[in-house]
Amino acid sequence: MELTSLLKRIVGDRFVLTDREKLENYILDETPIHIRPRPASNLILVKPSNTQEVSEILKIANQYRIPVYPRGGGSGLAGGAIPTRNGIILSLERMNRIEIDRENLMAVAEAGVTLEKLIKTAEEAELFFPLHPGDESAQIGGLISTNAGGTRAVKFGIMRNYVKGLEIVLPTGEVLRLGGRLQKNNAGYDLMHLIIGSEGTLAIITKAIIKLYPKFEATATLVIPFENRQDAINSVPKILQGGVMPLAIEYVERELMEKTAKHLGEVWQVKEGRCYLLVIVAEQSREEMLNQSLKIAEICKNYGAMEPLFAEPKEDQDRILRIRSNIYLTLKSEMIDTLDVTVPPASIGKLIEEVDRIAEKYDTRLPAYGHAGDGNLHIHIMDEGRDEEYYEKLRSEIYDAAVKLGGTITGEHGIGKVRVRSLMKYMDEKQLEIMRKIKEIFDPNNILNPEAVIP
Ligand code: LAC
Ligand code: ZN
Repeated sequence: MELTSLLKRIVGDRFVLTDREKLENYILDETPIHIRPRPASNLILVKPSNTQEVSEILKIANQYRIPVYPRGGGSGLAGGAIPTRNGIILSLERMNRIEIDRENLMAVAEAGVTLEKLIKTAEEAELFFPLHPGDESAQIGGLISTNAGGTRAVKFGIMRNYVKGLEIVLPTGEVLRLGGRLQKNNAGYDLMHLIIGSEGTLAIITKAIIKLYPKFEATATLVIPFENRQDAINSVPKILQGGVMPLAIEYVERELMEKTAKHLGEVWQVKEGRCYLLVIVAEQSREEMLNQSLKIAEICKNYGAMEPLFAEPKEDQDRILRIRSNIYLTLKSEMIDTLDVTVPPASIGKLIEEVDRIAEKYDTRLPAYGHAGDGNLHIHIMDEGRDEEYYEKLRSEIYDAAVKLGGTITGEHGIGKVRVRSLMKYMDEKQLEIMRKIKEIFDPNNILNPEAVIP
C-alpha cells in the first residue's frame, strides 16, 4: 500500500496532507533566513490525535526507513524542525489536552499544548509557570525537546528544571513513561533528562508532567537605564551576589527596544540611557518585592545606573516583556545570524568586553541583548553585504571568546541543523562518540530528525 494510504488509515484522511500550499506553515521555522536550511520537496504532513497513533506512524516510518520530523510551534532558531529530507512531518498540534494537578502543583500536558495555553491554564488554577521562552505559540513538545530558556529563568531555571515526567514514543513505536509526579527520582540513569534537549533526534515526546509554582502575590518590572553596555552588564553578577534572586535579569539596548516597539505599533517610553537592565521581581508580599527592588536599584546605582522606571500594573509589565520578546523578529530581516553564547554568570562582563573588541576589530556593529542573569547573550551578526567567509570568521571569534571564558556556543537555541559543524569543532571527540552511540541505541535507522544535532 502507498505510504499516504497507510498513514490515512491511522489518523484519518483529513489529517494527512501533501499539497505544498497546505504545508507552507510546517516546513520552516524562525531561523535567520541567511543560514536557514532548505526544506525537502517531497513531504507528507501527518497530524495524529493520540499516542497510539504516533506509535503506529513511527512503526511504519521505521520499517520503511522514512525520516520523521516532529513539529511543534515552529519557533526554533536553529533549523531544528525544518524537514531537510523527503519524509514525514509529524505535527502534534491536535494533542493539546492539559490538566492541572493542584495537589502536586503540576500540569500534565500533551505535546501540542502551546506555551500560551500552559500559562493561562496554570493561572486559572491560581498557579504559575514562571519560565517565558519568548514566543507563546511554542508548544510543550518543542519547549522540552529544545530545553527552552528565554526570560524568567534566573530564579527557577530553564525547561529542564520544570520537567518531572515524560511520555515518549521510540522509533520502534514502543511507548515509554519516564519520571513521574515526583520531586525526587534516582532510579538508574536519567533517560528523561537525556530526552530533554535532544531536539527530536531520540524519541517523540507525546506528554509531559510539568512543575508549577504558587502564584506570586507581588511582581514588578524594573527598567534600569545605563549609559553604556559595560556598566549595565557588570552590575548583573553584583545583583545575584547581593542576595537577591529576581525572576529575570535581561539586558537590552534602547535602540532595539525603540525599533521593536515601533514595529509593534507602540512607543518605547524610557528616554534615559543607551541600554537597560530589565529586572522582573516576584515575591510573596509587596513589602518583600519593594525591598528587593530597592536593593537592586541600589546595587545598579553603584555602577552608574540612572533612576529606574518601576512598572507594577500587569499591563505595563506585559507590554515591556512583549517588546523585549519581539526584538529578534524585528531584527530578523537585517541579520545573518543570532548567537546565544553563554558564559559563567560572573564572566558576562568579560564576554561583552570581548564582543566590543571583536566589533571594533571588524569595524562592525554587534547588537546585543538577552538573558544576562543567566550569562546568556544574543549577539547579532548583521547583514553587511559581505561574503560567507567574513561572517564565519566573525562568528568563530565570538564562539572562541565564549568558550575561552568557560562558556558554550549555545545556551539556548541549540544545535539544530545550523550548528552541527560548530558542535564538531568545540566538543571533544569522546563526548561526540558517546552522543553518536546514544543516537544509535535510540534510533538505529536514523529516522528521527536526521541531520540535526549529531550527523
Ligand atoms: C530571545 C530569543 C532570540 O531571547 O532567544 O529573544
Ligand atoms: Zn533568548
